[in-house]
Order: sequence, then structure tokens, then C-alpha cells
Amino acid sequence: MAPRCWRWWHWSAWRRTRPPPAGSTPSFRQQFSTQEQPPQICVVGSGPAGFYTAQHLLKHHPRAHVDIYEKQLVPFGLVRFGVAPDHPEVKNVINTFTQTARSDRCAFRGNVAVGRDVAVSELRAAYHAVVLSYGAEDHQALEIPGEELPGVFSARAFVGWYNGLPENRELAPDLSCDTAVILGQGNVALDVARILLTPPEHLEKTDITEAALGVLRQSRVKTVWIVGRRGPLQVAFTIKELREMIQLPGTRPILDPADFLGLQDRIKEVPRQRKRLTELLLRTATEKPGVEEAARQALASRTWGLRFFRSPQRVLPSPDGRRVAGVRLAVTRLEGVGEATRAAPTGDTEDLPCGLVLSSVGYKSRPIDPSVPFDPKLGVIPNMEGRVIDVPGLYCSGWVKRGPIGVIATTMADSFLTGQMLLQDLKAGLLPSGPKPGYATIEALLSSRGVRPVSFSDWEKLDAEEVSRGKGAGKPREKLLDPQEMLRLLGRRA
Ligand SMILES: Cc1cc2nc3c(=O)[nH]c(=O)nc-3n(C[C@H](O)[C@H](O)[C@H](O)COP(=O)(O)OP(=O)(O)OC[C@H]3O[C@@H](n4cnc5c(N)ncnc54)[C@H](O)[C@@H]3O)c2cc1C
Ligand SMILES: NC(=O)c1ccc[n+]([C@@H]2O[C@H](COP(=O)([O-])OP(=O)(O)OC[C@H]3O[C@@H](n4cnc5c(N)ncnc54)[C@H](OP(=O)(O)O)[C@@H]3O)[C@@H](O)[C@H]2O)c1
Repeated sequence: MAPRCWRWWHWSAWRRTRPPPAGSTPSFRQQFSTQEQPPQICVVGSGPAGFYTAQHLLKHHPRAHVDIYEKQLVPFGLVRFGVAPDHPEVKNVINTFTQTARSDRCAFRGNVAVGRDVAVSELRAAYHAVVLSYGAEDHQALEIPGEELPGVFSARAFVGWYNGLPENRELAPDLSCDTAVILGQGNVALDVARILLTPPEHLEKTDITEAALGVLRQSRVKTVWIVGRRGPLQVAFTIKELREMIQLPGTRPILDPADFLGLQDRIKEVPRQRKRLTELLLRTATEKPGVEEAARQALASRTWGLRFFRSPQRVLPSPDGRRVAGVRLAVTRLEGVGEATRAAPTGDTEDLPCGLVLSSVGYKSRPIDPSVPFDPKLGVIPNMEGRVIDVPGLYCSGWVKRGPIGVIATTMADSFLTGQMLLQDLKAGLLPSGPKPGYATIEALLSSRGVRPVSFSDWEKLDAEEVSRGKGAGKPREKLLDPQEMLRLLGRRA
């Protein structure tokens, strides 16, 4: 179908998906025909968005075939490379994704970077529909002087390092300093703080990489500051993760009661979840701990603190200019009300000495291919409920659809919605109806370009190898870090 204007596309989608008038027989196009070739659909990205979109399509269309393209050799996106090693229960979603991948109507095509190895236009020519679910792979830069100094890392890279993301395996952060500063107060900031401060023996039975564990065992970091530009009512982390920090063995929280002045009254006005979270912060900051907790805190050798109303202004170098020695923070006050509350500088600054800075101010999606619209300001593919604006047959789901916010459950819901829109359009005859070659064409293209995809059964071999390597140490797995080694294990020439 030739691309037409987006309004037409939507109006047409709406008109064709209305129920037929009473008494009329649904037209051929309003049903999934069993005569036609099964729809060939491809999904780009094998994180939660890719897998949940595929799951929805396979469940609700009896004959659809879905190919999932993934640039890594291994599947599952941030479930493998983001979720913290001490949160194994979160990774159980992998079991559901595995069931999807094992369907005979689904195929995993790993080791294929869309936009580099194959263009989106080539995928669109080969498939009836293409879903972009490639996540948010970049980190949001702070854009302040000194950000490039040794000793400053993005939380994304640090997380990638302890979780075995191949591109971060050499990171080897120097943890010989006393104090680390984390900029940002979201759940990623708390993940990173927790991994820095957890007694290493508590991580030994997780899937953290052995290399990261080795560095953490040598760590001399005693204090971690988690810095936010706004106040306690605006933190982006959630209560479960805060509670985990408060109870972290061997550590003690430091909160300044002055940051909480007048908050008791304002708490009443905020929504329930935010209220519970703020009450926990307030209690931790202002109440004397009970006897047992006081005894636990007295024995703590490490501390963590939340620093509010501080916006990063510059990273300070050591006297020889060779590494980070601190962060200059602009003191802020809040302006505006409700959601629009923003941090405005007061003109004062404060220098916070440290030997390690982790910038945790969010992730960011990249444009994948010049043929795909991209909103650089919002960092998303412009879409309406997952239909890419002005590009019929192209859809998106997950973080690239709505921005780098939300847990796996949120991603699941929005991916199901995208799947639903796609199937509605298919049913309404808005997608190409003729036969499409699907993977047959793409396989030939990739082969001509020297790209050799890996399959889900290849992943299952790597998975078995990882599990077996972890066994000796009592770990669920020891992750393979080197793509060349993975290819060798699969009997491929690296
Ligand atoms: C550090 C961290 C910890 C988190 N912890 C939790 C948690 O404990 N609980 C929770 O519920 N949520 C957690 N989340 C949120 C959760 O991970 C996200 O909601 C979810 O992963 C987003 O899914 P996605 O599929 O959009 O992106 P991703 O999971 O990033 O998946 C995108 C996939 O696309 C692939 N890809 C990228 N570019 C290309 C390309 N050009 N070609 C082919 N493939 C490509 C990537 O390799 C990746 O596999 C965490 C997030 C982060 C950052
Ligand atoms: N355990 C879990 O469930 C878990 C774990 C990890 C991640 N996640 C989810 O993954 C998503 C991403 O998490 P995230 O922590 O990366 O992002 P996030 O929740 O958006 O938090 C980003 C933090 O960075 C701050 N920030 C942004 N720009 C800044 C700047 N220029 N200067 C100073 N501070 C700045 C934000 O402050 P402002 O509010 O002032 O902008 C906020 O405190 C979230 O939805 C999160 O819940 C969940």
C-alpha cells in the first residue's frame, strides 16, 4: 500500500474497524482469512517490549508468524542487562519470553543490528508489518563541564558492567575512593547505590559477573550520596526500592531533617503511593530508630544519603586534572506547583568531594534509520497508540514508543496495545494483502553482507553453558561476556 497521509490512515483504520451494521455479514476483510498467506511480521528488539508484542500477536492471530531481530547475540534486553542481579524474581519473565520464542510461529534472529546490517525499509518490503521495540540504549548526558573526566561514568555503563553487557565489560571502575556521588534520584540510582554498598558476600549467589564481584570485593567506597535537584516530594524512585536501601545490611542512611520541614502538612494532599513513600522518607529522616535498628546502625561501616535541592553544575578535577575529585552543585529551590514543580538555582553552590561520579539521570533512545520518523526532543518515535505517524505498516512499542520510563509491567501493557492496533489494521485490510517473503529475503541480504544471525536454540546452548559455569560457585549462571567466545562456542568462526 502506498503511504498516504496519517489522518487518512487513522480515519480509515477507525472506519474499517467499526462493527458492521446490524444484519450485514462481516466482509471478507473484516475477518482473518484462512486462505491468505499467514501474515509475516517482524519485531526489532528482544526486550520486554519485543517479546510482549510478539506474544500478543501470536496469541490473538492463529497463523501470524513473528521474527524477532536482536542486535545482541543473546535475547531479553534490559531484563538481562538492566535488572539488578539481586532482583532475580524480576527475571522470571524470561520463562514467558522463552515460551514465546519456542513457538513454531516465532523465530529469534540475534546478532542482527537493524539500521546497520539491514535497513528498516528492507524489513518493510519483506514483511506485512514491522514493529520497532528497540528500547533506549543511550544515557542522558548531563552536559556539564568535567563530565568526561576519568572516574565519571553513566549509570547505564556501570549497570552494563556488573550485568555483563559486552560493550561495558572493560569498564573496571576504580572503587579505591571513600565517597561516590550518584546524580539523579530514580530507581536506577538506587540500584547502583545498592550494588555499590551491598556486602559482596550477599551478591555471590547472584548472576553478577565474577569480574564485577572481584572489583566490588576490593571496593573502599564507604559513603554514597544520591543527589536530586528537587525535594523529597519529587523523588523518582519507588517505595519498595527505598525500603531495600533502608534495610541494606551493613549500612546506615543519612537524611537531613531540615529538608523535610513543613512536609508533614503537604503529604496529606498528595496521591496515596507518593504519600506512603514520603512518609517513609520522613520517618527515616526525623524519627529516632528503635533499639534493634539503632544497634544495627551503630555497627554499620557504610553510609548512604539523599541530598536534595542540588543540581549538578560541574565535575571538579583533581589538582593534576587527571580524574574526578568532586562535584559542584547548584543549590536550588522549588518553583511552580504539582507536576510542574521545577528546580531553580538560588545562586549558591556547594562542592561535594568524591572519587567516583555516576550519572543516573535517565536513558535515551536513538534514531534507528533515516527512514523512520524520530522526535529528538522527546526521544521517541512519534506514534499514536503504537502506529508510527505517517508510516503505514510500521509500529512501535516499549521505551522507544513512550520514553525511558516505566517498569516491565508498564511495558507489557503498552506492547499489548501496539499488538492490538496492528491486528486491528490487519483485520481492516490496511496492511499489504499480497504474499510477503519474510525472512527468506532478509536471510539472503544478511548473508550477502557477511552477517550470520543466531537462533533461539543457539541462545539455549549459550544459556546452558552459562548455567554450567555458574554451578561451581553456586550462582544461577556465569554470564558470557565476549561475543567472540560466544560465537566460538556456537561453532562459528569468530
Ligand atoms: C538499570 C535498569 C533496571 C531496571 N530494573 C527493573 C526492575 O527491577 N523491574 C522492572 O519491572 N523494570 C525494571 N526496569 C525497567 C525495564 O527494564 C523496562 O521497562 C523494559 O526493559 C523496557 O523494555 P524495552 O523492550 O522497551 O527495552 P529493552 O529492554 O532495552 O529492549 C530493547 C532491545 O532492543 C535491542 N536493540 C537495540 N537496538 C537494536 C537494533 N538496532 N537492532 C536490533 N535490536 C536492537 C536491544 O539490544 C534490546 O535487547 C529497569 C530498567 C533499567 C534501565
Ligand atoms: N526496581 C525497579 O522496579 C526499577 C529499577 C530500575 C529502573 N526502573 C524503572 O526504569 C525507569 C528509568 O529509571 P531511571 O532511574 O533511569 O529514570 P527516572 O526514574 O526518570 O529518574 C531520573 C532521575 O534523574 C533526575 N534528572 C533528570 N535529568 C536531570 C538533570 N539534568 N540534572 C539532575 N537530575 C536530573 C530526575 O530528576 P527530576 O525528577 O527532577 O527530573 C530523576 O530523579 C523508571 O521508570 C524506573 O522506575 C525500575
